Amino acid sequence: MNTTKNKSLRSYNTFHIEQSVETFIEINHENELLKLIKDKNTFSKPIYILGGGSNILLTKNLEGILLHNRLKGIEIINEEDEHVFVKFHSGEIWHECVLWSIKHHLAGIENLSLIPGTIGAAPIQNIGAYGVELKDVFHQLEAIHLQSGNRKIFNRIECQFAYRNSLFKTTEYKNYFITHVVLKLNKTPKYKIDYGDIRKTIDEDFQGEINIQNIAQAVINIRKSKLPDPAEIGNAGSFFKNPVITEAHFLQLQNNYSSIPHYPADNGVKVPAAWLIEQCGWKGYRKNNFGVHPKQALVLVNYDNASGDEIWNLSQQIIESVSQRFNIQLEREVNVW
Ligand code: EPU
Repeated sequence: MNTTKNKSLRSYNTFHIEQSVETFIEINHENELLKLIKDKNTFSKPIYILGGGSNILLTKNLEGILLHNRLKGIEIINEEDEHVFVKFHSGEIWHECVLWSIKHHLAGIENLSLIPGTIGAAPIQNIGAYGVELKDVFHQLEAIHLQSGNRKIFNRIECQFAYRNSLFKTTEYKNYFITHVVLKLNKTPKYKIDYGDIRKTIDEDFQGEINIQNIAQAVINIRKSKLPDPAEIGNAGSFFKNPVITEAHFLQLQNNYSSIPHYPADNGVKVPAAWLIEQCGWKGYRKNNFGVHPKQALVLVNYDNASGDEIWNLSQQIIESVSQRFNIQLEREVNVW
């Protein structure tokens, strides 16, 4: 267990925001976490759990303790005729797990290639892209309660997965440290290539040959062409969720904007936030060292040394202009600390 006082978090968040934390603790093994919990004084202050830092916006120096999840390991734990159950320890990098699965001819997460972050963060916001969500392959996870040290298994139903949401976003369950996630991967692939440009990219780049490797590479190529690489330009992927509006509200908007993109949703119509933001003129906006990415209006960017407050204020201005023009309240997808 490595502990550092007043540690800079700049290289621990993909927005590259300069803020620090009072106490930074690296968790390399579950026993280290259990030992901390036994010492009752440890968690009298606020606790933050950090994986890849790819879905946070830091707006202040953090008081308290930040636990940096470094739990590593990948194991096959069960096999059935059609499925293999794989236990991924929560500090593993998500994309490396996708590559591991492809190498082992296991299908189900190829469409989720190149999503930044760790395995432990994936269920919290039910990561999704190109027609697939984590919940589609999720079997169960184990988590340790940070006050009692109790371990608990959560199955798919208990996790209450929804669009970029789960039980672990509620105040009570933020106190659980996810230690591993078990995914139920398919021996026989069920290809999903009808979302966005996947089929077109496979036709162009791989002469139409469909397999999980080519799907993953097509997704990687598409993401690289549209989304900024956090190693080069600070960002946290989609900053906002795609809003769901009522059918009546949608029809009213469609009267004025006949080309408005939309998708069916459980309780209404989903409209891409990127489209709403672009209509309000924000796409490619830049002020000083921060702005809205020129190729994807859903992504706010830190070009160099912007503060978390500057980016938060920009997001607030965007929320207000979308609200005024479309009467839709955008919600932040990124966690603000
Ligand atoms: N669009 C615009 N302007 C833009 C970008 C997109 O009008 O600047 C329109 C497109 O024309 C399209 C629609 O918006 O009709 C949807 O665009 P896209 O398929 O690029 O996806 P998205 O809804 O903007 C979501 C996820 C992404 C994920 C993509 C692909 C959310 C919040 N975001 O974006 O996830 O990669 O679909 O599946 O659901 C992330 O969560 O960090 C992330 C990148």
